Amino acid sequence: MTSKLVPVVLRSARRAPRQLPQLQQLQRTQWRPFTATAQSQSADTLFHRNTEDNNPSIPFKFTAQNEKLIEEILARYPSQYKKAAVMPLLDLGQRQHGFTSISVMNEVARLLEMPPMRVYEVATFYTMYNRNPVGRFHVQVCTTTPCMLCDSDSVMKACEEALGIHPGQTTKDGLFTLAEVECLGACANAPMVQINDDYYEDLTYDSTVSLLKALRNAAEKTGMKPGEQGLAGGDGPLTGKDDAVKGGKEIHEQGRSYSAGGVQVPTPGPLSGRKSCEPAGGLTSLTSEPWGNETLRKDGAL
Ligand code: FES
Repeated sequence: MTSKLVPVVLRSARRAPRQLPQLQQLQRTQWRPFTATAQSQSADTLFHRNTEDNNPSIPFKFTAQNEKLIEEILARYPSQYKKAAVMPLLDLGQRQHGFTSISVMNEVARLLEMPPMRVYEVATFYTMYNRNPVGRFHVQVCTTTPCMLCDSDSVMKACEEALGIHPGQTTKDGLFTLAEVECLGACANAPMVQINDDYYEDLTYDSTVSLLKALRNAAEKTGMKPGEQGLAGGDGPLTGKDDAVKGGKEIHEQGRSYSAGGVQVPTPGPLSGRKSCEPAGGLTSLTSEPWGNETLRKDGAL
């Protein structure tokens, strides 16, 4: 029996050191990281950290004008469901204060008699609520697939080069904040950016650079410095609709641009010459009278 076992034991003893590196390799390959790709930081975080300009000890009150608006908004809901107004009230607070600070959220919670945590949950879920200060112009570049296929990379590059910042950053003068966002629902006019409340579409590298330059020049000419109205200003975009620009300033529509302080600024919409999202090369369908007894307007209007 011993004579049978000895060769087996000797063979196994010789094989063991040879197999050790293979075993170690096997153990190494069993270890897997949770993610295989580099982490990319989003433009904003999901948590709050007290800072000098965003902490609960900073008082926030809605203006008398906004209090009237709040009354109107609350009247849309049964009184026992007034917390349904949390989103419009947060939006109103952001427009007044420039961003949705912790004090804005706490004031909304107080007005709607909600636990503050419920308001924080809403504000952190929707990316439209800026929970940190943003520049006078919040430039949001869409890089989702349709825009990416239409070269949103050039638009992003133009923004980074013209402003000297990367997504998630604000220019030193506080005028521009750059963000990369998902589809903004204007894919038919890709690539596009949203600047405050306005969409600028059919962009190229050059048209993006000129747009940003025009906005910067107009803001400087009309004295719209961030220091005067808080970092974000909170008054919406510098556009033909902007009362802050209209008030005492030269402004008039001139085709696809308007003048602000003598600077021609493109009006929001497609910057390619298209009026809307009609085919750039003319109609390719519905070019003749449809079959049937229906009639169409002859003046070309829809
Ligand atoms: S993908 Fe950019 S607007 Fe839809």
